[in-house]
Amino acid sequence: MGDVSTLHNGLTVAYDEVGTGVPVVLLHGFPHNRSLWAPQTSAMVEHGRCIAPDLRGFGDSGCEGPFSMDQYAEDVVALLDNLGIDRAVVAGLSMGGYVAFALWRLRPELVRGLVLADTRAGADSSETRAKRLELMAVARDKGAAAVANAQITGMVGASTRAHNPALVNGLHQMLASAPVEGIVGGLQAMMDRPDSTGLLATIDVPTLIIVGEEDALTPVKESRAMHAAITGSTLQVIPGAGHVSNLEKPAAFNHVFGEFLSAFNYA
Ligand code: MLT
Repeated sequence: MGDVSTLHNGLTVAYDEVGTGVPVVLLHGFPHNRSLWAPQTSAMVEHGRCIAPDLRGFGDSGCEGPFSMDQYAEDVVALLDNLGIDRAVVAGLSMGGYVAFALWRLRPELVRGLVLADTRAGADSSETRAKRLELMAVARDKGAAAVANAQITGMVGASTRAHNPALVNGLHQMLASAPVEGIVGGLQAMMDRPDSTGLLATIDVPTLIIVGEEDALTPVKESRAMHAAITGSTLQVIPGAGHVSNLEKPAAFNHVFGEFLSAFNYA
């Protein structure tokens, strides 16, 4: 746990690495860091070699730009290269899913399987872009804690909000610790990302789609649409979970994730 790798482009990337078996790269959302995946890296050691990096601008990784989905994806490619991994299962939650789509578009030969958690294939609407610009101004003027205040309600489901204040507080701390440069860069990267809907039909690796039933940010209908478009994909809807389904219902998430990974280990 807790390593640092310097990429060929000069970026330092902090990452956790645990377990053995099929390599699995775990990509956090916005404005998270690799600790989002703690319930998986602590439990999935028998299912895969789990590598959870802090994306550029988040956690303990370097904060310098440029920021784009392609750049995040290229950073992941460079990290895998440093670790001597030529193919990995790519699991992305929300913005991490957008990075997974960029990886599939740029370097599909590196992708052994996909886990698309609480994410969507489409690009931002003009309304969402306007909200991102507002959030950029909040980040610059008031800092990360104000961004955390704005984001926290939608980040978890109603059940978690009602019954798990400790999880909500912990997640708020994670969001509030994000560097402002990373927040602004992440918002720009999400605004600029291309529509990946057309890419879905090209996905021909095993794909697991997971979504919290109470996800308000990337609702179940988005996952159903991805499931319909990706031939042979599996969809798992997790009851009682919202947008960070891996954190809100780790046992249910790990169960379906572990089953998915076992197919690679025994293939
Ligand atoms: C995330 O969790 O990564 C973000 O909510 C994604 C987004 O804002 O589109």
